[in-house]
Amino acid sequence: MKLLQNSLLVSFIAIFLTPAYNGEEIIGGHAVKPHSRPYMGSFQRDFKKKYIHHCGGALIKENWVLTAAHCKINIEELKSARVLLGAHSLTKEEKSKQSLGIEKQIPHPNFNSKTLINDIMLLKLNKSAKINKYVNLLKLPQGKVKDEKPRTRCTVAGWGITNAKSENASDTLQEVILEVMDRKLCEFSQCSKPTLEVTKDMICAGDPKGKKDASRGDSGGPLICKKKYTGIVSYGNNKIIKPGIYTFLSNKYLAWIKKSIGAVLTKERY
Ligand SMILES: *[C@@H]1O[C@H](CO)[C@@H](O)[C@H](O)[C@H]1NC(C)=O
Ligand SMILES: *[C@@H]1O[C@H](CO)[C@@H](O)[C@H](O)[C@H]1NC(C)=O
Repeated sequence: MKLLQNSLLVSFIAIFLTPAYNGEEIIGGHAVKPHSRPYMGSFQRDFKKKYIHHCGGALIKENWVLTAAHCKINIEELKSARVLLGAHSLTKEEKSKQSLGIEKQIPHPNFNSKTLINDIMLLKLNKSAKINKYVNLLKLPQGKVKDEKPRTRCTVAGWGITNAKSENASDTLQEVILEVMDRKLCEFSQCSKPTLEVTKDMICAGDPKGKKDASRGDSGGPLICKKKYTGIVSYGNNKIIKPGIYTFLSNKYLAWIKKSIGAVLTKERY
């Protein structure tokens, strides 16, 4: 699997369909200060009675997490899946941890796994998280969102692997600093998927030195630019470090989030 991914011939789909296992992971990053990102959630699947990190996500309301549509799992898996909040280490016992079940996945109805268009999904938790020092909300952008200029500095955090040679997810939350990149330039540098169009609803970010990246297990996690929630980790290349592609939290998506949460609340009320 790893060898295959090294090859330029490998289909992008193969990487893309296995969000946690070998892909979107922070490479060349560093551990974050414990609990400095209290909105970070680990979307986990139950694998033979053990939880495995599947994707990242951000807590946007007490019972809602925002992640990527390509992180969607099947209904059977969803029953035993969870979101872990308040974690720094995934495996150690930490009093700050809160584990919540998932009632519903709401992927964007027009998500396209080939073009990556609309790679955004809401998770409704089965109860509300307790807000405290370790678990808190990440505010969605307010008002009209403006595009981010190339070279803007951003950060991404995740529990993906930290070493391109290792299959293992990182036990502690890691982060990298990246720069926004021009969309056309980004298209040219995606040599494993040269036909990918980076639309206005996507944002591209990478390490100017080409040494750091967000990758598979980081999928769904938030991209923070100028201290604001700006994007969602969508697609990154595993071994060949290229700028990553993020769903840009544009006005279109902010409206979709509001509408989707509103529709669920209305349905529950009546
Ligand atoms: C929420 O889901 C978890 C994990 O599936 C389950 O253990 C728990 O009982 C559920 N809680 C409620 C309030 O439904
Ligand atoms: C990955 O994790 C396994 C099991 O915990 C461990 O035995 C192995 O040494 C780890 N591999 C690397 C490269 O860290």
